[in-house]
Amino acid sequence: MGEGRRLSDRPDETSALARSARYLRGHRTMLAVSTVVNVAAAGARVGGFALAGVVTDAILAGDRARVWEAAAVLTVLVVVSFAATWCGTYLVVRVGEAVVRDLREDAYRRVAAAPLRFLENHRSGDLVRRLTGEIAALSQFVGATLPALVNSSLMVLLTVVLLAGYSWLLTLVLVVLAALGAALLVRQFLARAPSAFTAVAAAEAQVSARFSETLPAREQLMVLGAQGRRLETFATDNDRLLRARVEQLRAHLWLVALGPVGGLLVVVLIALAAGGTAAGWLSVGGAVVFLLAARNAFGDVQELVAHLGDLRAARTHLARVLDLVEATEPDPLCPDESRAPGGRGHGVLEARKIGYAYGGRDALTDVDLEIHPGERVALVGRTGSGKTTLGKILAGLYQPDVGTVLLDDAPLSSLGPDTLRSRVVLIPQEVVLVSGTVADNLAMVPTDLGADPYGRMHAAATSLGLASWLGALSDGLDTPVGDHGRLVSAGERQLIALVRAALVDPEVLVLDEATADVDPVTAARVEDALARAARTRSVIVIAHRPDTVRRADRRIELVAGRVST
Ligand SMILES: Nc1ncnc2c1ncn2[C@@H]1O[C@H](COP(=O)(O)OP(=O)(O)O)[C@@H](O)[C@H]1O
Ligand SMILES: [Mg+2]
Repeated sequence: MGEGRRLSDRPDETSALARSARYLRGHRTMLAVSTVVNVAAAGARVGGFALAGVVTDAILAGDRARVWEAAAVLTVLVVVSFAATWCGTYLVVRVGEAVVRDLREDAYRRVAAAPLRFLENHRSGDLVRRLTGEIAALSQFVGATLPALVNSSLMVLLTVVLLAGYSWLLTLVLVVLAALGAALLVRQFLARAPSAFTAVAAAEAQVSARFSETLPAREQLMVLGAQGRRLETFATDNDRLLRARVEQLRAHLWLVALGPVGGLLVVVLIALAAGGTAAGWLSVGGAVVFLLAARNAFGDVQELVAHLGDLRAARTHLARVLDLVEATEPDPLCPDESRAPGGRGHGVLEARKIGYAYGGRDALTDVDLEIHPGERVALVGRTGSGKTTLGKILAGLYQPDVGTVLLDDAPLSSLGPDTLRSRVVLIPQEVVLVSGTVADNLAMVPTDLGADPYGRMHAAATSLGLASWLGALSDGLDTPVGDHGRLVSAGERQLIALVRAALVDPEVLVLDEATADVDPVTAARVEDALARAARTRSVIVIAHRPDTVRRADRRIELVAGRVST
């Protein structure tokens, strides 16, 4: 995928259903069985109306045998209809949930593998909402609304077929009048719905994005006294959501008017049926069938229309999730792990004429550098000079706009993702840990830690001279790190990341030195660990402390995105 692909706030909805058809392919059999069972359920219920007509005519003719016969068939139909409705509902929801599950899995997998630039270009709240809330809304639709929609549409269809058998003329009048009335109201609804529903989804995403940004920043906001202003922006978002919801309600109210329209149609039908029986082209039983079945079908049409809003909302959610899935489609040029060159090399890293821009603004220009195993290079420069960006490019997290990065003469872009992650490790300035223990965080490596993971973790810490630090933690490897690692300092989070890197045992290590919150003792530990790591590896340290620069073998300075000579 193009790293620069942007998600749309209002993605195309008209083709959403067609685009999601590929998720149905794996469930064809169950879909077919579900259709057959649901048609049987609706057929049995519609058959009941026909029998009511038969019974009426038999009673009028005094044919008691026929009345009993019809009663027996009706009993069978009731049982069949009950069983088929039960199974049909189950199957519809089951297929729907399976499809939602596939969609969710696909979306999660793709976002997890999406390029860093894509993730950075989007608000995490929006991504999280599409991955969780909007998929959950689809699942809710499948469970609560879809069975009713399937059931009502089949009932309407089969009722029309049945009535046409009694009088196609009367049926035609009925269908034309009902369609005219419904079309008039639904048109009003549809004229307002698209903008109303997408506006609601966009406003909801905005509210949740703002909220998820505010939570982690609460300490900062408190310190700055900026909570009040933040609340004001939140109130603006909230008002926007309310306006969108009211707009949605106004659209929906047009559908409510369908009830009286149905009532009027029944009156017309009674008059026509009465005329029909008087003129002799419709039996009394036929008139009974018409009134019963048509009244029931109006109920179903109303049900269908009432759910039109849910259907629209579901389509909006579907379009937004598909937008995410399509935007994170794996690049066909991305090397396949099984075919890309694997294994280890020496660890010679070379950057050739690297250029990189954020939204048209150059962050790096013409950067050349080469580093060999056993070497420790300090990358220095002012804030904003491009050090972090270069670090991410050297670790293969960003694709450079121009130039290439070579690892042992092979472009990083030719390595499979797993190989790349095991040969080059980047430790960012702000290491984020997952809640759990130190060991939980160390275990997050692409390498299999074997039967004795704790032994491997201790050995890795020892190789970096960090065994005494690990031993001094309150519970050793089982020490909890807190939510996002808040219980350990920024420097210690980097130590944990260093031990994790030692477990991976990469050929190249890039460390963006933590500036905040590093006490001299921890700083010295990081230094020492890096010196040990560099014995067999190529190590690049984005250095913020003079001491780190002094102890490096070589120093490269970036000035406004260029290597200073
Ligand atoms: N995700 C981003 N989006 C847009 N601009 C960015 C982004 N990250 C960094 N920049 C800009 O690129 C330039 C280099 O940033 P960075 O590599 O973080 O520098 P350093 O690490 O040396 O402080 C800066 O002007 C910075 O504002
Ligand atoms: Mg930086």
